[in-house]
Amino acid sequence: MNAPLTWTESLALNLPQIDDTHHEMVNLINDLAAVLSTDADPLPTFQRLLDHTIEHFGMEERWMAATGFEPDNCHSSQHKMVLNVMHEVVRHATELKDLEPMHIVVGELSQWLPAHAEMMDAALVFHMGQVGYDPATGAIEKPLATEASGISSCGSKSCN
Ligand SMILES: [Fe+2]
Ligand SMILES: [Fe+2]
Repeated sequence: MNAPLTWTESLALNLPQIDDTHHEMVNLINDLAAVLSTDADPLPTFQRLLDHTIEHFGMEERWMAATGFEPDNCHSSQHKMVLNVMHEVVRHATELKDLEPMHIVVGELSQWLPAHAEMMDAALVFHMGQVGYDPATGAIEKPLATEASGISSCGSKSCN
């Protein structure tokens, strides 16, 4: 078995809630890679990863909503795309008894997470700092403008 991803401080965004969540996701991806190299049923491990990912993305979506992002911004679109793929993996594994997509996705997620964290999540954390948003309390220093000024991009030039 090859561990596809290792947590390092280079993945840290210096916000404990998001760094702990990303560290847990790294561990869950590696758990999945380990079980996929055996004959054991990988579905419970994949389901743990999926449940964790739903929580993870939900947390970031709540922060986006609290700090003025439009609901259909491109960071959220990436989250939706990943969850759609993960639900398809479950459908293939359960209805079609096909584990091939899961084998592909474990490798893709191990590449996707560092890239997404470095670009989308880092931009979100930066924005939260700009508006003085405290994710622990929900307090915000700079009230959001009342006019239509929602953020539909995500602070990244590569976002379209
Ligand atoms: Fe994230
Ligand atoms: Fe994200």
